[in-house]
Amino acid sequence: MSDDKMMIRVQGAAKRYLVGTVEVEVLRDINMGIREGEFVSVMGQSGSGKTTLMNLIGMLDSPSDGNIFIDGVDITGKSQKELVGLRRRTVGFVFQQFHLIPSLTAYENVALPLVFAGEKDQRAVTDALERVGLSHRREHKPAELSGGEQQRVAIARAIVMKPKILLADEPTGALDATTGSMIISLLRSMAGEMTVVMVTHNRELALHSDRIVNLKDGNIAE
Ligand SMILES: Nc1ncnc2c1ncn2[C@@H]1O[C@H](COP(=O)(O)OP(=O)(O)OP(=O)(O)O)[C@@H](O)[C@H]1O
Ligand SMILES: [Mg+2]
Repeated sequence: MSDDKMMIRVQGAAKRYLVGTVEVEVLRDINMGIREGEFVSVMGQSGSGKTTLMNLIGMLDSPSDGNIFIDGVDITGKSQKELVGLRRRTVGFVFQQFHLIPSLTAYENVALPLVFAGEKDQRAVTDALERVGLSHRREHKPAELSGGEQQRVAIARAIVMKPKILLADEPTGALDATTGSMIISLLRSMAGEMTVVMVTHNRELALHSDRIVNLKDGNIAE
């Protein structure tokens, strides 16, 4: 597979934190590539560095060593300002706890990234809500939606800017098994048109992805 088809490339990446006077190495010498349109699951024990890796790929954090290329661009050493713009155009995030704004309707929650980007044309909101099967719930506030519906709103919000990469950190962690499978099917249906990276503790759900990356002791286990 040639490099130009790689949407995400992690090269010798390490992440260390200074806790008091002790340096903790969370990730060490991570090397991996994720192809455009691929659906990859990241698994590993609690504390193995999954969220840390997602934060590096999502440009929320920078590596202590090594380089990260997103869609061919080396993001290492870019300024915070550049990263904000790049992140907004390139990455959508989904979290375990949905992180919807309680006082806003489903529609308004999905519209937020467009508002922040100064985009007036909100047709993408209707499209995104339709995409997750929630057109009929657009006026509902989060408290008036089921957990699965709230996560679908969060997914609609994550895709409304048409990102190249969708990052989902334990997207089914707060949902029952049936609802969880539905969310995975939805992510599955989005792979191909975007690159999807999901953290999960559930091997059965991970099997729906194209590939599983296992993290162990800060590195990729074979
Ligand atoms: N800001 C930080 N400062 C110091 N240590 C940190 C920091 N963030 C994370 N860590 C440590 O890094 C390790 C990996 O954390 P991370 O959140 O990536 O794990 P994880 O695999 O996502 O775990 P979980 O499955 O519980 O979500 C943990 O041991 C954690 O204590
Ligand atoms: Mg985590």
